[in-house]
Amino acid sequence: MSTSQEIKPVRKAIFPVAGLGTRFLPVTKVLPKEMLPINDRPLIQHVVEEARDAGIEEFIFVTGRSKEMLEEHFDYQPELMQTLKERNKLYELDLVRSTHIPEGRFFLTRQAKPLGLGHAIWCARRLVGNEPFAVILPDELIQNDVGCLAQMVDVYNQKGGNVIAVEEVAHEEAQNYGIVDTDDDLTQKVVSVKGLVEKPAPGEQPSNLSIIGRYILQPEVFKELESLERGAGNEVQLTDNMAKLIGRQPFHGMKFKGIRHDAGRRAGFIKANVAYGLADPKIGGNVRKEILKLADKIREDEKLKGAA
Ligand code: UTP
Repeated sequence: MSTSQEIKPVRKAIFPVAGLGTRFLPVTKVLPKEMLPINDRPLIQHVVEEARDAGIEEFIFVTGRSKEMLEEHFDYQPELMQTLKERNKLYELDLVRSTHIPEGRFFLTRQAKPLGLGHAIWCARRLVGNEPFAVILPDELIQNDVGCLAQMVDVYNQKGGNVIAVEEVAHEEAQNYGIVDTDDDLTQKVVSVKGLVEKPAPGEQPSNLSIIGRYILQPEVFKELESLERGAGNEVQLTDNMAKLIGRQPFHGMKFKGIRHDAGRRAGFIKANVAYGLADPKIGGNVRKEILKLADKIREDEKLKGAA
């Protein structure tokens, strides 16, 4: 168990990318969901950059069938780089260069069947070994100057143990999330977690603090995952197995700074693109103009509907 004396650094992050992405079919028939673009870069690159900014040194992808494109994206591309150099496209050259994850820091393992997030994490057990690690879900984006994982690493460096990112959701939304049980005042930035429930039945949620896709966990969770017991949705749930560490190790929920985008849903994906486009100094002004035009059109349509 971690105590404040023996807080080991978080050096490794797992990116589970083996899901089927059924909510985006037919686009995801061939294209991995994690390669869908938010502004100028794919979802997976946003979260790899977040991890890099938080000090992560080793990047572990849990992949599945038809996901080879993800590995290509982070590989070295000498031909493209040479062409960009010859054409003096130095800005673009930098963009391509920044996608490369150096040799010896990029690891892949396969999840043969998408049996759930808990199972995906368990697939990476040998690559993580006996040290704390982060998990980042690529379809949850947190938009902020200081990345969500960097904020969590700060909390972890003080508290040790396990730290999960949490966000308050509307009461009726709680049944769609993993929910935290705590005795602490919910207005605090960091709360001590006393229980976790995955997708609680309506009205049975212990709070409205939901788990979003960022975790720092101790390796003992792999032992719990080993039974591969199915939970909600007949999937091996990470939440159920993390919950078994509570009471044995420090376990905290951290409210993060930033805007969360659930880019695993089509409406959330579109919202994320608008938000990242607006924040982009190169195109933000034009995006704003287009959005305002659309907003005017929506208002006009609604007025006409009201008059009819
Ligand atoms: P989701 O719950 O969004 O599932 O997974 P999904 O299969 O990607 O998408 P839908 O629901 O069919 O539209 C969240 C993240 O966890 C990964 C996914 O690739 C995604 O990045 N995941 C999920 C796995 O790696 N393995 C699994 O068994 C389940």
